[in-house]
Amino acid sequence: MNFNVAVIKGDGIGPEIVTEAQKVLDKAGEKFGFTLSYQEVLMGGCSIDACGEPLTDEAIAVCKKSDAVLLGAIGGNTSTSPWYKLEPSKRPEAGLLKLRKSLNLFANLRPAYLYEELKQACPLKEEITEGGFDMMIMRELTGGLYFGDRKTVVENGVKKAYDSLTYDENEIRRIAKRGFDIAMKRNKKVTSVDKANVLDSSRLWRQVVEEVAKDYPEVTYEHMLVDNCAMQLVRDPKQFDVILTENMFGDILSDEASMVTGSIGMLSSASLNDTKFGLYEPSHGSAPDIAGMNKANPIATILSAAMMLRFSFDLDEAADAIEVAVKKVLEDGYRTVDIMSEGKTQVGTVEMGDLICQRI
Ligand code: IPM
Ligand code: MG
Repeated sequence: MNFNVAVIKGDGIGPEIVTEAQKVLDKAGEKFGFTLSYQEVLMGGCSIDACGEPLTDEAIAVCKKSDAVLLGAIGGNTSTSPWYKLEPSKRPEAGLLKLRKSLNLFANLRPAYLYEELKQACPLKEEITEGGFDMMIMRELTGGLYFGDRKTVVENGVKKAYDSLTYDENEIRRIAKRGFDIAMKRNKKVTSVDKANVLDSSRLWRQVVEEVAKDYPEVTYEHMLVDNCAMQLVRDPKQFDVILTENMFGDILSDEASMVTGSIGMLSSASLNDTKFGLYEPSHGSAPDIAGMNKANPIATILSAAMMLRFSFDLDEAADAIEVAVKKVLEDGYRTVDIMSEGKTQVGTVEMGDLICQRI
């Protein structure tokens, strides 16, 4: 069995971490009898440098033809990189947003759980994390503020900027269904997060979520205001199973959730459309400050690659093997610098990839 994977290494630490993920995928392929053909695609700053734009139509076409996309990270230092002197629609991030929209990747899954082995890296008090936590953020990814009309004008000599936040009921319904579907495979609890005390879009969100919930009698659901959710994530993260939320809130809450697990370097993500196709990338950014230094933690990308095998290719056994190998490496005491603690063995990006391969 062969699958075609479009590979976007991107900027900063992107190339290093994707190389490790490919190494792990190939090892899993050998073991479980499948092959992957990779086609490299440029996106982000490297595409601006090579092609003058963050994502070309040809690049989108290659992604569309593939069975899945594996992505590292894009972007540079927003204060010093020349990419950020360009107009907003020509900057690295615009490429990522265009790709999400062109591929209709409306459902973004970001798992956040606490590894027993990494408890020391968690900034919360032990009494809060006792027993661990395991949540899935289901973030809407192609609507809301990210894709609404925006403009900056001058009115009576005063600069004024507009960003509009819109959702229609169909957009809300399809992501809500995804949230409840995934809850059925987990602990059957959905927390729908909104700002219904202020925003119309949130009031519609709440109404549609209630309708969808009727089709899932086994799932317990609740509504939570986003400010409260931000607080609850650090007060008692154990209460969450699936957090279902709109684009902007999901962006913010997923960074917060990743931090409470101890390291953003551990968290994977999948962005899916209506088919088996998906884009898989770590939840973290391109960390330009440590690029090329063999310091980056490749685990989030490796776990994203495992999600690709599971969700897009139905290779559950191989995906399990990768996840187990990651756990074993941690049990065996190996750490990249971001998750290093006393008495453990510090290793670089490449060594971490090798150690995981050896355990598959
Ligand atoms: C993310 C990132 C992106 C987002 C940026 C790079 C545009 O923060 O995937 O969470 O805001 O969606
Ligand atoms: Mg983000």
